[in-house]
Amino acid sequence: MLKPQIAKLLNEQVNAEFFASNIYLQLSAWCENAGLEGSAKFFREHSLEEREHMDKIFDYMAECSLPITIGAIDAPPTEYGNLMDVINAAYQHELKVTAMINNIAKTAFELQDYTTFNFIEWFIAEQHEEEVLFGKILSKAETLDFKGQTGQTLGIMDNFLRMLDQK
Ligand code: FEO
Repeated sequence: MLKPQIAKLLNEQVNAEFFASNIYLQLSAWCENAGLEGSAKFFREHSLEEREHMDKIFDYMAECSLPITIGAIDAPPTEYGNLMDVINAAYQHELKVTAMINNIAKTAFELQDYTTFNFIEWFIAEQHEEEVLFGKILSKAETLDFKGQTGQTLGIMDNFLRMLDQK
């Protein structure tokens, strides 16, 4: 039986991944509305990926016979000035998730819960990949000197997001 402290953190992470899925869905909706189809596709796919993260932790908790509580999920922000704001919002969110995952790893290690430590290692690698992914997007924006302005650069960024391999 896992310690209550770990159970609480895992339950919070289930809810956080659900929230993340909704954030990305909202970002996709914003892009659809702005006529940015490539970006909308990218964020829609990412929303589904977050849902898979939630399922993964849900399954682990179920395997460990831990109670799971789906709480009220906050509504994600809806207002963004431009595509660069959207990208920055996503990146900042990933940094928060990385901190939460690291905290689960740290707590599991301190409590000598090596089963959870082993389980959460997949998420540590995943967060690394997600930060690399957003790093590529930010670096592309910097190369193009894209700050959210309309015009040809916006089209290039939208297409870049459409073609990005998220797996
Ligand atoms: Fe589930 Fe993008 O972290």
